[in-house]
Amino acid sequence: MADQNELMELAKRRGFFFGSNGAYGGTAGFYTFGPEGASLKHNVEAAWRDQFTIRLGNDEIEAPTIMPEAVFEASGHLDGFDDMLVECAECGASHRADHLIEEALEEIEDAEALGIERVGELIEEHDLACPACGASLAGEPVEDFNLMFETSIGPGSGDPGYMRPETAQGIFVEFPRLKEYARGQLPFGVTQIGPAYRNEISPRRGIIRVREFTQAELEQFIDPEEDEPPLEEVEDVEVTLYPVTEQDADDGEYLETTIGEAVETAVIGSPWVAYYLGIAQQWYERVGVDMDRFRFRQHLSGERAHYADDCWDAESEIGGNWIEIAGFAYRGCYDLTKHAEYSGDRFTVFKRYDEPVTVETATVDPDMSALGPKFGGAAAEVAEALQERAKTDPEAFESDEVTLEIDGESYTVETEVANFAVEEQTESGEHITPHVVEPSFGVGRTVYTLLEHGYTEDELDDETRTYLSLAPEVAPTNVAVFPLVSNDDELLEVATDIAGSLRSAGISVSYDDSGSIGRRYRRQDEVGTPFCVTVDHEGLEGDAEPTVTLRERDSARQIRLPVAAVSEQLETLLAGERTFEELSEQYGDVETDLTTA
Ligand code: GLY
Repeated sequence: MADQNELMELAKRRGFFFGSNGAYGGTAGFYTFGPEGASLKHNVEAAWRDQFTIRLGNDEIEAPTIMPEAVFEASGHLDGFDDMLVECAECGASHRADHLIEEALEEIEDAEALGIERVGELIEEHDLACPACGASLAGEPVEDFNLMFETSIGPGSGDPGYMRPETAQGIFVEFPRLKEYARGQLPFGVTQIGPAYRNEISPRRGIIRVREFTQAELEQFIDPEEDEPPLEEVEDVEVTLYPVTEQDADDGEYLETTIGEAVETAVIGSPWVAYYLGIAQQWYERVGVDMDRFRFRQHLSGERAHYADDCWDAESEIGGNWIEIAGFAYRGCYDLTKHAEYSGDRFTVFKRYDEPVTVETATVDPDMSALGPKFGGAAAEVAEALQERAKTDPEAFESDEVTLEIDGESYTVETEVANFAVEEQTESGEHITPHVVEPSFGVGRTVYTLLEHGYTEDELDDETRTYLSLAPEVAPTNVAVFPLVSNDDELLEVATDIAGSLRSAGISVSYDDSGSIGRRYRRQDEVGTPFCVTVDHEGLEGDAEPTVTLRERDSARQIRLPVAAVSEQLETLLAGERTFEELSEQYGDVETDLTTA
């Protein structure tokens, strides 16, 4: 396990990420990805897009990050997207009240679920102190703090707007258009990768809890009555689950199972959620998460977001703690129903029946010339109540009179006056509101997990070496190319040519001719470059076919292969079509240790 301070130091020194706006004293909760980090992050996003957009056959959109207030009134974020805030009267520091409880009281894992009042009581009962200055927080009010960043749209006082707290809303509000591109056919999925913003009370732990972060989200729209996921694709995928029942039990354990079994035994209630857990398990393995330090944990009921019927988090173990790196929520029809209600637009799809059906519709056409004289000012309300009664209780019109209750008053109407009729209509389908299943990934947290899980120290040539064991697909650079020394034109020319031909083949290359070769290997090891090619004198001697060495990062083993084979062999290595071991069998290991040269 990586020492967190050493990892943070490496991240800064090697240009993965660092706190933003350092020249102005820094801004808590904002991080800049440096050259290596930006490259790693983009590669993670590309791998996500490859799986969740392209391979699953979904469509990707890019919506604005600022949205008007009405969106968040409808979505429930304006009212319900709060964290518990307690402020220190002594030094003014702000703290997440629920986190203070969880840190102080080992037996409480989810203080948010206890509610604001109980959290305030617990702070008082245990006389918790401000982590910043040590003053007592007992008796300080615990308040709901809305996490959205507010802004205004337009000049002057403008219209209120908010930085989106999740990319999802940019997909939901465009559903009336997006369903047209899907030709109104369920199921369909829409993805989006982009920034989201949360004004965290106490951002902490590097890039794990930040105020601006990147999400990669898929909103899968389904007909809950008809659509089933292709579960057979993932039914044998093995997963480690931590369901609510096990979290609640005193001796609760992880459940080692398969996706198929978890659905059969109803441990995972929604087959769609289960399907995406299976897809995600495979994806995390592909990008290099250590699957022995990975689990899916079901949300406790008090922990679920306001829109979620059920939710499972993908969690990775970081420095002895579990952090959420993705959430898989069954959002039901919550979002689309709310946006329909608040906007008046149509957030439904038309579901055609296999066969048209005949439906009977009861109607009334009340004779107002009879109702008016009889009920005076209440006549219109009586007519309306008759309409409603015809819909809900048509049998009532079989009697000579219908009695209606309006605001506690009884009104009796002669059935004849209502002009009751039953009409037959043929309907070819109905408008339904789709349900939503949402896999939502935190990109920065995935990047941090890859760095943490890939961080390795070993002993090489009597020295401690640090390297990042990143999967070639996401490593910032695929291959480094070095001339052994920088003052030999022939070595430089061959090395430059190799770098050029690798780049032409779409391989990302770092060319470096400065410093000792040992230092150059160490630098590449620390940024996770999987392979290094070195052009040395030995390989260019005599009339034999020119050769170079190829070094694998994790084992630090080297082979010697012809220059003419470098590009093709690296392509097969990077694509996972061949292993370094196989190349070693073909070409043989080089005994010369260039590492310390
Ligand atoms: N869209 C889910 C989340 O932001 O948590």
